[in-house]
Amino acid sequence: MEKLRIPGPTPCPSNVLQAMTKQMINHRGGEFGQILNEVTAKLKQLFQTQGDVFLLTSSGTGSLEAAIVNTLSPGDKVLSISNGVFGERFATIAEQFGAEVIPLRFEWGKAADVDAVRRALHAETKIKAVLVTHNETSTGVTNDLAPISSVVKEFDKLLLVDAISSIGSINLPVDDWHCDVTVTGSQKGWMAPPGLAMVSLSQEAWQAQAKAKMPRFYWDFAQAKSYLEKGQTPWTPAISTIFALSVSLEMMLKEGLPNIIARHARVGQAARDGIKSLGLSLFAEESYASNTVTAVAASDGLDTKKMLRILREEHQVVLAGGQQRLSGKIFRIGHLGWVTEDDIETVISALKVVMPQAGHS
Ligand SMILES: Cc1ncc(COP(=O)(O)O)c(C=O)c1O
Repeated sequence: MEKLRIPGPTPCPSNVLQAMTKQMINHRGGEFGQILNEVTAKLKQLFQTQGDVFLLTSSGTGSLEAAIVNTLSPGDKVLSISNGVFGERFATIAEQFGAEVIPLRFEWGKAADVDAVRRALHAETKIKAVLVTHNETSTGVTNDLAPISSVVKEFDKLLLVDAISSIGSINLPVDDWHCDVTVTGSQKGWMAPPGLAMVSLSQEAWQAQAKAKMPRFYWDFAQAKSYLEKGQTPWTPAISTIFALSVSLEMMLKEGLPNIIARHARVGQAARDGIKSLGLSLFAEESYASNTVTAVAASDGLDTKKMLRILREEHQVVLAGGQQRLSGKIFRIGHLGWVTEDDIETVISALKVVMPQAGHS
């Protein structure tokens, strides 16, 4: 069996997969309503929120679009904090729907600078919302969300958070950190297959929702709320993925959120230590290096594409390459969800054998 160590989709425990083999049920019936209510309640605990949480049948990108179209109107000014591929994607979605995006870009591999966020909000008073990627999966950087949030709230702006590869694995107390819309996807730290996005909304987000004029139909959170009150989703949901998520959330609550966060911290450290023991360097600024994905700089003649191929073909270890302008320049180890230090040891041992075969001197 392949050892899938990409930053999502992540491997699913066998009881989670087993849950997907159950027969379909009526998504307008009582049994589904009960499962949906239970899953939603569990998600609220793991999001650390008293606010509303919805399941959307979508990949993570759909939930980024949902966050935008439910809170903004064409012409609204939006500050986009970006330090990688996914920060750029969030901004592009806002732009496509007519927002006036003010980019605040940081070097890829570096974290967003809180003072720069403050200066940007000070310079442009008409900004309505701030977009931020908590964990930039493309570079392996976790932005320091708590102080960013404090600044955003000091200026009384909406905070829309891409937490797709962080929440559930890296601490993100949604209410304490005043995140207005927070989004994630089932295939990341949640140990479930792809197919669902999960979003939370604050009261401020609902106030914005009532006034937001961007076109929306499938993503309308008001519809999601009115249907959830009946134990339903507005549109046919990914029922099998909800069955799976129901089991994985149960496992997560049993382990306990603080333990999960601590395990990811240990696993992240093991990955960083292992990489350094091989003579390689982290791509991310180390003090902001992510506990869910480690990006490694290619150096000393290492051909990452060849290395990834040999790892897969000869060691059944599947890692991820760099995206866009980082293609060939970095590779990434995903370590979120169902993962332990032993899994990292397997990856590091395989890398040790394959690196010289892929040109590393
Ligand atoms: C931080 C982040 N944002 C957005 C996405 C996009 O999610 P999806 O591929 O599920 O649409 C990902 C997926 O890798 C991600 O890690």
